[in-house]
Amino acid sequence: SEEEYREGIGHIDVTEQLDLAIVAPATANVIGKVASGIADDALTTALLAVACPLLMAPAMNDRMYGNPLVRKNIAFLKEQGVHFVEPETGRLACGTVGQGRLAEVDRILEEAAKVFPAGDLAGISVLVTAGPTREAIDAVRFMSNPSTGKMGYALAAAAKQRGASVVLISGPTEIAPPHGVSIIYVKSAADMYREVMARVPASEVLIMAAAVSDFRPRVSSSRKIKKQEAPVSLDLEQTEDILSAVARVPGKRLLVGFAAETDNLLANAMQKLKSKKLDLIVANDILQKGAGFGEETNAVTMIDRAGNKIELPTLPKTEIAGRILDKVVELKAI
Ligand code: CTP
Repeated sequence: SEEEYREGIGHIDVTEQLDLAIVAPATANVIGKVASGIADDALTTALLAVACPLLMAPAMNDRMYGNPLVRKNIAFLKEQGVHFVEPETGRLACGTVGQGRLAEVDRILEEAAKVFPAGDLAGISVLVTAGPTREAIDAVRFMSNPSTGKMGYALAAAAKQRGASVVLISGPTEIAPPHGVSIIYVKSAADMYREVMARVPASEVLIMAAAVSDFRPRVSSSRKIKKQEAPVSLDLEQTEDILSAVARVPGKRLLVGFAAETDNLLANAMQKLKSKKLDLIVANDILQKGAGFGEETNAVTMIDRAGNKIELPTLPKTEIAGRILDKVVELKAI
């Protein structure tokens, strides 16, 4: 609203979360301003700041539409990647008949859909786990690990971008959920197990990037344990192995696991691939520089169900996510 716009930098805020900007009707004036980089009102200022594709549906008098200056502006904007929906021919607001009527809403929506090529995961349901889990010792203490969730969040965002409908089941992290992804927050391995298992039947691809705690205290106190009564040792039990449980659910789905190792990386990864019946395992030597917990980059080797190894160099996690999904698409097709 006008009020919100005046409040701060509304014209910039509004552009940040957009997938597509549509200007309908686009007047000769607005087309001219955008073509020249003029930003003298809320709309043109926002349009100058958008990072997403822009679709314009011109509507104006037919002679204006045919004017060489307007043609030149449209041609220039097309070269810049702006999309246009041609106006229709018919009776115009000024009473004459010609090309200049705003296209029907259905045609505008049709063109809008064409702006986004169907991704190679279009319509596929993908479930991703991410982040660490916390296993309670008492009301104020827990066992956990340094996972930040970056790899899993990058995978969820990339899958969404490629057209998948994505559910992200996340342990406690500091990062914002990717746009358009359904997010479910969990704390413990037991919570994550429950939330994942409930969604296995509806998922075609499962990518288990979470660093699930393998152990938890056998008993946890709902009160704070006082120093004087502190146990000298913690009695631990194993948590649910979510990945193995998923692999046992009947039905055909693609299962991707991670193996974070410090020793015998490939041998351990290969063993996990087989024992957990995975389609793909992403092995990651957490002692290597530029790889592992909290880093922006990762260095992984993927091993697929046929035993093919793909070693990737150190790359940003967003890039690694893309490579993993390329492999998912390839394995899904076989
Ligand atoms: N994983 C899981 N549930 C657990 C533990 C791990 O789903 N309770 C998943 C992880 O998300 C990862 C894969 O299993 O995708 C491998 O995790 P990792 O801890 O490396 O394997 P483990 O089977 O626990 O083997 P180990 O601890 O002996 O290395």
